[in-house]
Amino acid sequence: MQGTWWREAVVYQVYVPSFADSDGDGMGDLRGITGRLGHLAGLGVDALWLTPFFPSPWADGGYDVSDYRGVDPRHGTLDDFRDLLASAHDHGLKVIIDIVPNHCSDRHPWFTEALASAPGSAARNRFHFLDGSGPGGEEPPADWQSKFGGGAWERTPDGQWYMHIFAAEQPDLNWENPEVAADFERTLRFWLDLGVDGFRVDVAHGLRKDLEPPLRDTRGNDAAPLNSPPQGDDHPFWDRDEVHEIYRSWRKILDAYEPPRIAVAEAGVSAARLPLYTRPDELHQAFNFFHLRCPWDARSFREVVDTSLDGARSVGTLPTWVLSNHDVVRHATRYALPEGTDLTGWLATDGREPAPDHGLGRRRARAAALLTLALPGTAYLYQGEELGLPEVADLPAGALRDPMWERTGHELKGRDGCRVPLPWQREGSSYGFGPSGSWLPQPEGWGSHSAEAQSGQAGSFLELYRTALRLRRGFRGSGSLQWLDAEDGELAFRRGESLECRINLGDRPLPLPEGARTLLTSDEGGTGGGMLEPDTAVWLEPAPSRG
Ligand code: GLC
Repeated sequence: MQGTWWREAVVYQVYVPSFADSDGDGMGDLRGITGRLGHLAGLGVDALWLTPFFPSPWADGGYDVSDYRGVDPRHGTLDDFRDLLASAHDHGLKVIIDIVPNHCSDRHPWFTEALASAPGSAARNRFHFLDGSGPGGEEPPADWQSKFGGGAWERTPDGQWYMHIFAAEQPDLNWENPEVAADFERTLRFWLDLGVDGFRVDVAHGLRKDLEPPLRDTRGNDAAPLNSPPQGDDHPFWDRDEVHEIYRSWRKILDAYEPPRIAVAEAGVSAARLPLYTRPDELHQAFNFFHLRCPWDARSFREVVDTSLDGARSVGTLPTWVLSNHDVVRHATRYALPEGTDLTGWLATDGREPAPDHGLGRRRARAAALLTLALPGTAYLYQGEELGLPEVADLPAGALRDPMWERTGHELKGRDGCRVPLPWQREGSSYGFGPSGSWLPQPEGWGSHSAEAQSGQAGSFLELYRTALRLRRGFRGSGSLQWLDAEDGELAFRRGESLECRINLGDRPLPLPEGARTLLTSDEGGTGGGMLEPDTAVWLEPAPSRG
């Protein structure tokens, strides 16, 4: 288990700015997390993934790093990190941290040096600086689009342009430069030597680019939402074969530690190419965004589950399952939105925004949790999903911090609605998030979702998750998934002899099998009358005779 704990684990994503604030500056910090480890151990997760807490000017919530081997004062100190790590390990929790290798901050010393240096210099060669096109180089070198809106090139005062897939404050690094690769290896070792158990690799599919002149225009095939796969092969900057060399060298570093450390890729690529990132000599896991994006429909879920299992099997591993993260609309809201709604830049400001039915979203989110936690592989939970938190859709314009808001000319509000600081208590300033306010405003009544309000309450989201994670420990490792006959709109499968999971994604109640004992139901009203209501799921102890 020591070396393979990650294969069927539950990993809890801590979005550091919004988890818990210990010092009252309104911003989550490492000591805040240490103080709340009891909640996570009690919930029953195996590991935490901490989003970036490194020094950063915060042009993109910390994903613009200006020093990869330090801690931002707003989140604490390196000693706070050491304490958090030691305390997490004492609680039996592993700790994975984020590494952001595709780009750094425009205030990183390398970029400052590059701007101060001449075109063609070694300092510029750590990034992608190019001359523009058109008369006088006035036009960008190609039509490439930033994921946050607008073009992917920024002009510097001397007339050259530099590439940024994300905000202009996030210049892309040149991974063909051995100095860049060597510095990241140093960063990996720095944190591994401190004792971290692994890394989550930001934008793992973007590191290598084809910048051979003439640059190829992408004609809009890069404007898709964050983490949706590019169309077709041979894109000039997404999912190039050369990225795999990087992960082969990283794997050697991870394997040199005892026990070996792990890495999980954030890679928005096709289902056919995702397993390449988790070949035995590369990274250990990759987030399953197909599961996250799957519409509320039995056939679609079944297809995603089969494709994910087959893909992972082809490289000798198990898939991951993800419903939410800090980049998408929380699934307790999302499942009540019309299909096709943009999940990252959700909420336009022109009145197009749909009004979701929160009751429906919650019901489906509870059912989706039982489906997800019954599947073979590792589940990644996003902080607050265990509380059933909805998206905060009505943040005032003045509070928005996501660069998408400015870069789309205020057309899209961006991702702040899923990043609102957690409520820990019913009452009090920032509902227990910290001793004073919070960096994003929490809605009125946010405390009704708090851990305090739900703890010990039968039928609450929190107790559903606690029970599910406890039961899961009993059946994980119990083999592959076996589909059972099911009604239209229903999914039913077994994990070995110990668990049967049924979920009703249709619109009429379905009979539950006779003789099976209900271990857990997502239905707040219980499984009265032996029926499986629409938008609910159950875990059953299978009756021995059926198969
Ligand atoms: C990843 C992160 C996202 C960030 C982007 C740029 O997609 O999850 O939050 O904005 O990378 O680093």
